[in-house]
Amino acid sequence: MTPPGPAALRLTLALCLLTVARSHADHGPGLPEEEEERGDDTATVTTGEDEGDPEDLEVFYPTRQWQPLLPGRAVPAGSHVRLNLQTGEREAKLQDEEPGPHRPKERRQGPRLGKMDLGPGAYTSQDLKHALARFKEGLELGTPKDDQARRAEVRRRFRPIEELKREFEALNLHLETDLQIMVRLIDKFNSSGATLGDKVAALKDLEYYVHQVDNARDLLTFGGLQLVMGELNSTEPVLKEHAAFVLGAALSSNPKVQVEAIEGGALQKLLLLLATEQPLAVKKKALFALSSLLRHFPHAQLRFLKLGGLQALRNLARDEATRVLAVRVVTLLHDLLAEKLSAEEEASASEVGAEAREKAAQYARVPLVAGLVEQGWCAVVAGLLGRQPDHDPREKVLRALGLLLDFCRDAYRHDSGLGATLARLRDEYSRLAARERRRDRRDGDREVEEEEEEEEAGYFQEMLSTIRLLLRRLD
Ligand SMILES: *[C@@H]1O[C@H](CO)[C@@H](O)[C@H](O)[C@H]1NC(C)=O
Ligand SMILES: *[C@@H]1O[C@H](CO)[C@@H](O)[C@H](O)[C@H]1NC(C)=O
Repeated sequence: MTPPGPAALRLTLALCLLTVARSHADHGPGLPEEEEERGDDTATVTTGEDEGDPEDLEVFYPTRQWQPLLPGRAVPAGSHVRLNLQTGEREAKLQDEEPGPHRPKERRQGPRLGKMDLGPGAYTSQDLKHALARFKEGLELGTPKDDQARRAEVRRRFRPIEELKREFEALNLHLETDLQIMVRLIDKFNSSGATLGDKVAALKDLEYYVHQVDNARDLLTFGGLQLVMGELNSTEPVLKEHAAFVLGAALSSNPKVQVEAIEGGALQKLLLLLATEQPLAVKKKALFALSSLLRHFPHAQLRFLKLGGLQALRNLARDEATRVLAVRVVTLLHDLLAEKLSAEEEASASEVGAEAREKAAQYARVPLVAGLVEQGWCAVVAGLLGRQPDHDPREKVLRALGLLLDFCRDAYRHDSGLGATLARLRDEYSRLAARERRRDRRDGDREVEEEEEEEEAGYFQEMLSTIRLLLRRLD
């Protein structure tokens, strides 16, 4: 069973980061007892097609505790990142929350399902530099209250990096920088003697490093990323797959890499992978890389439309062999549409700067809505809803329907299948929400100190209100 949550919330407005992290904690795999409880509620739900897919875990959801940052996770803006020198693991957590009283309120207002990424590149090199600088100083910035304790804890567990370096040097060891490691990996990859296994291993390692914005840029500067892009048309499917994976990770919220990639022809190569006969694993990673390339990059989105990208995606969503990717495709289109609408909305506010206007002008040149409507996406998305047995994909399709509704209203009003599916889901979530409320009350009695949690609408209650809202808007 796939717990609802993580991927649905991928790329959420940086300002809503706290909301995301909390929502995730509420429903994601982070809280085993939650999951077990939910188990009763979802006993009838069959296993999702996406189960165990690494992409669903790609974004790391920081909490206020340090957590190991596994390879293949992207770090959202505002996270602290550090290297635990004892374990050698990277760890990350949320910035310490400002104790503003409005914050928890704010996050309860708009329904969570409506939230989307409105911000520019979600993680900046600045954030990572700050995190690194703090790490190098050997101290953590905490809220005044626990600052002392945390510093003491940090001092107890970690020594300053300079001290460690001296010790390493004394032992004739030295810490390899990320850049040195990447150069070594690319050399290994590029060496004439490398076996297929060596190459795949090098790509897997690289994928870990390029999540850091600066590393991805460094990889560009010495030609490493270009080499990786060249593998997108390798004759070996496994190399295409992993090259796309590295590229997708490097592109995530990294405008400089996005520009280089599009100039280097990555878009055409990715679309070719999506439009031609390829193993599913290759298509999956190509779709991931395509998503990273297009997000927050209107110029790439325009090229994508001109190159017939929407057709390629529609075939992907419709073909039997690649249907499992349909929800991802719809999520991508939802996000692109949301970006565009929010850029335009932002620019229509009374006081806006030149930058917001320019951004809106760029998005205005992307004929995404027309493309979606002309190419029958209203029906594709509506048809997808009834086929999702799991909550998380349903949530994604519902969000897409919510955005498309304004443009697809006529089609949806006459779509009796959609009406019936929504009514069925409304009934199902009414039952689940009622059970959830009872359980919340029970827990509320037990743990009075966690009032905050008590007043929060549960996941199923939010699903229910989303479905009701859609039904009302269709009336
Ligand atoms: C890969 O190897 C070729 C030939 O050996 C060399 O010309 C090229 O510069 C290498 N590329 C990188 C990025 O190291
Ligand atoms: C990949 O495409 C480039 C041009 O885009 C071409 O030069 C290269 O030979 C191709 N590689 C393979 C393995 O087909």
